[in-house]
Amino acid sequence: MRHLPDPRENASPEGAGFETICEHHGENALAHGGGAVPPLYQNSTFVFPDAESFERRHDPGAHIFEYTRHDNPTTAILEAKWARLESGNWARCFSSGMGAISAALGGCLKAGDHVVCVYRCYWPTKQLLNHWRRFNIETTFVKGVEPADFVAALRPETKVLYLESPTAGLGDVPPVEPLTKLASERGITTIFDNSWATPYFLKPLELGCDLVVHSATKFFGGHSDVVAGAVMGRDAQLEERVTQERILVGAVPDPFAAWLLLRGLRTLPIRMERHQASALAVAQLLVDHPKIDRVYHPGLPDHPHHEIARRQLRGYGSLFAFTLKEQTREACYRVINKLKLFQIGVSWGGHESLVVGGNFFSDDPEHIVWIVRLHVGLETVDDLLADVTQALED
Ligand SMILES: Cc1ncc(COP(=O)(O)O)c(C=O)c1O
Repeated sequence: MRHLPDPRENASPEGAGFETICEHHGENALAHGGGAVPPLYQNSTFVFPDAESFERRHDPGAHIFEYTRHDNPTTAILEAKWARLESGNWARCFSSGMGAISAALGGCLKAGDHVVCVYRCYWPTKQLLNHWRRFNIETTFVKGVEPADFVAALRPETKVLYLESPTAGLGDVPPVEPLTKLASERGITTIFDNSWATPYFLKPLELGCDLVVHSATKFFGGHSDVVAGAVMGRDAQLEERVTQERILVGAVPDPFAAWLLLRGLRTLPIRMERHQASALAVAQLLVDHPKIDRVYHPGLPDHPHHEIARRQLRGYGSLFAFTLKEQTREACYRVINKLKLFQIGVSWGGHESLVVGGNFFSDDPEHIVWIVRLHVGLETVDDLLADVTQALED
């Protein structure tokens, strides 16, 4: 019994471009009544014509839908596209980025294992890893980005290397290929949070990573109207483990979230081009401004990891931070409060420009640094530049 066409049988041709994959891969409009947009299967369960076909629901390759916590036809189309975009063999959609990160890590770890992780990863990822100390899973957070810094942190029981690059905020860029090489030589699984660059600018699986995770809430969604996550990979065993985590923990997306993500994906490439160009223009304005101390955008030549970024990335996301020369809470908040188009709010990757600030990226509580973090959205770039300029005026 086949309820619906398998999206994997509607692959776009070998060598199809990124935009073509976003548009066509995994879709079969005629099999869905000719609807130009895949239908939203907003249902929890699926019914069967007879007990025999119910019995065959788990047959390998059967592609039979049973229950939306396991699989859903709308979500399956999205997963087929994501897998192809990240150069993976499979993808799994989650109800949040943290759900995806928990499943990727949880699928690779057991009591007694050790994790090596970049120092400035997304804060709740750090909290999650620290939280798992109670299950006897230890993590070492590595401050440097050199391979030797990571080697120094390895232990015989290290099972996962967790990378995020560029890190959200200060834009640390560890070199991925040497790190995946040293991990795979030791049988360590590398997990990479690719939310910042998206596969449009970076494909970590092609650089030797085993799993890619995303907050799909960010650029994948792109419209600030959905919370979701993704895990992609190549290895079938990892797929089974990550899928099992999703089914058992239940961090499964609502089909409507998957449908919104399919819509968001259509414009990902053109949004990323605009995000990149506008963010670089704002970063350049800030670099040249007399009130600014540092701009932490890895696309700028004076960023400490610019050379690695230039070699590794095909382009840049639009989230970055800067510091004012006047290092006080008042000066930091004055700029934030004066911005008009940049609204104060967490998250990033949506169409709208956002700003947050504080001392939350500081490594050292003794040494407080007041930082402003911008997400440069899709508004007219001249208006954004004017907004930043007026916010820095006395
Ligand atoms: C880099 C990064 N990874 C993961 C997450 C978590 O994603 P979510 O909020 O969708 O759970 C975030 C959220 O801000 C993030 O910035």
